[in-house]
Amino acid sequence: MQSFKDVDIIFAGKESEDVAKYIHRKTHIEEGNIEIITFPDTECLVEITPDIKDKNILYIKSTPYPQDKNLMELFLTIDAFRKNGAKKIELVIPYYAHARQDRMFENNIQSESAETVAKIIAALGSPKIEVYTIDAHFHRHVGDYPLFSTDIKAFNITAVKELAKHIKDKYDPRNPKIVIPDKGQQPTHKYIKEIFDTDFIFLSKRRLGSRNVEITCDQDISTLKNSDVIIFDDIIGTGITLQKSIEWLKTKDADRIFVAATHLMYPYDEKNRKHEDVGSILRDVGATEIISANTTDIKENGQISVAPLIERAISNEDFA
Ligand code: R5P
Repeated sequence: MQSFKDVDIIFAGKESEDVAKYIHRKTHIEEGNIEIITFPDTECLVEITPDIKDKNILYIKSTPYPQDKNLMELFLTIDAFRKNGAKKIELVIPYYAHARQDRMFENNIQSESAETVAKIIAALGSPKIEVYTIDAHFHRHVGDYPLFSTDIKAFNITAVKELAKHIKDKYDPRNPKIVIPDKGQQPTHKYIKEIFDTDFIFLSKRRLGSRNVEITCDQDISTLKNSDVIIFDDIIGTGITLQKSIEWLKTKDADRIFVAATHLMYPYDEKNRKHEDVGSILRDVGATEIISANTTDIKENGQISVAPLIERAISNEDFA
């Protein structure tokens, strides 16, 4: 597929309806409907309308909380497209569940769930499926996404440049410094540098538990007085990585501290049926603003839309 012109019909999961509407408004491409019928035992059934035989499909489905339910809906929907005779599927997954589990961390007895998800999608959609993710564990990959087998085009788009641009346009940071809380995030640096051609401060993160990290810095930074700081990460989960990073920056007297993260995936509190208010914790320790993309249903004040990024990737334009 070369551009939106080749898309006959757009389908979206409910978390991605705003992105589909944006594309529909621009292109007038027909929108299809996905109905999820949930049985009393919580199993579900997917029904798609209209008939899509021989049509090229654009399917946008994010898989935030509850991740595994969303993944099941994604799998069943791809299978329904295939069984109904879809010609080709372009699948966009703004938040790719399990992306962080993309290798075995300890030994050979662990699962690698990011790869397992890729294998299922490939098996269901192959050979005529292309997959686009957004900042799926951007420490390791931007561009071709090697979790998928080579016979499937899979591409990890980055929203980092748009996040940086939003901060520059809206807040015009003074004497800005970029902070990376995890030295591994190499692939994204060049996109940040296109907007902020300035010094980078790399922190070292040692994870001590799911809600505990230790943040240190090997660079000799005596003070950040009179500097606004922008911290970039792919995901805010419990917020502990950023909380400790902000606390360290405060010891260096940084001025305003902006937090830019593509995905907000705050823990879900099952008892109170809501996400934990990680944003407030970060503001309390000193974050001026939290800027994210609309890949999950959690929203802070500063949010960019991934719709134009998806448009450019699908249209085969330079995604950066
Ligand atoms: C790690 O691989 C990610 O890039 C994030 O740093 C991490 O997921 C953040 O998690 P938390 O907010 O729980 O520290």
